[in-house]
Amino acid sequence: MAAPINAAAVAALADEPLDWRFKGLPASWWGRTPAQICPGAPGLVDDGAVGPVCVLRAEALTHNLATMAGWCRDRGVELAPHGKTHMAPQLLARQLDAGACAVTVATISQLRAYRAFGVRDFILANELVDAAALQWVAKELDSDADLTVVCWVDSVAGVRRMAAGLEAAEAGRPVDVCVEVGIAGGRTGCRDASAVDEVARAAADCPALRLIGVAGYEAAIGHDVTPDGLARVTAYLAELRSAVERLSDVFETDSVVVTAGGSTYFDAVADVLAAGWPAGTSVRTIIRSGCYLTHDQGLYARTSPLREALRPALEVWAQVISRPEPDLALLTMGRRDVSFDQDMPVPLSLPDSVVTKLNDQHAYLRLGPNDRTAVEVGSWLRFGVSHPCTTFDKWQMIPVLDDDDGVVDLIRTFF
Ligand SMILES: Cc1ncc(COP(=O)(O)O)c(C=O)c1O
Repeated sequence: MAAPINAAAVAALADEPLDWRFKGLPASWWGRTPAQICPGAPGLVDDGAVGPVCVLRAEALTHNLATMAGWCRDRGVELAPHGKTHMAPQLLARQLDAGACAVTVATISQLRAYRAFGVRDFILANELVDAAALQWVAKELDSDADLTVVCWVDSVAGVRRMAAGLEAAEAGRPVDVCVEVGIAGGRTGCRDASAVDEVARAAADCPALRLIGVAGYEAAIGHDVTPDGLARVTAYLAELRSAVERLSDVFETDSVVVTAGGSTYFDAVADVLAAGWPAGTSVRTIIRSGCYLTHDQGLYARTSPLREALRPALEVWAQVISRPEPDLALLTMGRRDVSFDQDMPVPLSLPDSVVTKLNDQHAYLRLGPNDRTAVEVGSWLRFGVSHPCTTFDKWQMIPVLDDDDGVVDLIRTFF
């Protein structure tokens, strides 16, 4: 059996020389490789980083990996972390090392990026109806007996398109599918039990597909953790449970997959779907959290079931370039550099101040009375983020810092 990821391909990233393509990083590093730069744990600003620059915290990453792995073990669930969060094979390698069973991806392009690093097991948490994509998947599956790809189906039309695409590609083995249970007001997924059953049976009847389970995404309706919000999520997860029970004779495997769970409700997924299956039914419960790895200082700090335990690992640093009013600082950090889809970035060590607005390349920091004297033109300030996914995608290389802010690794992303 092949390894879950090609460690040599991941390690080879450390031998690629840096240059101007990686914004923020010191020009003194150009022409040198991560393998040459990191052993000395250089200081980012000392070496000439220019704002803004994005960083990861080594200690928090290690802590979050171990915390989540332990939680999954205790709760009897597997983890297929969503790889769209960071698109970084180096980080995925650590997640797989910590026990992750697969990577989740949202698109075929994301799957291809991880496949380029020899990743073996995928959940494509989406419908796959594109003929060219089906042809590519069929070819990959035929060329590697160890490769596993599970994708989702939510319509008979989709099942037929998949079947036609795979037949046209002369696929040598079937593609695994889960029937997706949707939620009113949500995204993809069958909207009621009869549609779930109809689609599942259509997939099972189709030799090009192998029906192996049931899938869903409870946070498609939001991240409401009030008792009402949690009750809605629990009721939705119960629909996945009943689909697994109803379809037990239809699945084409002895090891049925049930998968749900982003970073807000994975405890509810474990509560509803991890145990208590009828005797003789073997069920793998797989959660797909992506944001647990770096956690954050906004959305997931408010909603993660492990918000007391996980540590924020992702920051953006920027310089003050203007202090045009007593309570206003402008920084070299904008919408090109940091998340803004959930909340504004959070100034660290400036408890009285808030970012009120971002332009493409500027942040507006309103300074509270106690913070004004500390913030001068030229000061470097650190910011936490809300929603890691939409910060990661703005950086192609992210330094990892030790507790003394020395750079101990450089993480390459592929968005
Ligand atoms: C289908 C699906 N599964 C899992 C996740 C991961 O959730 P999170 O971003 O909260 O970690 C997402 C995120 O959008 C998703 O769309």
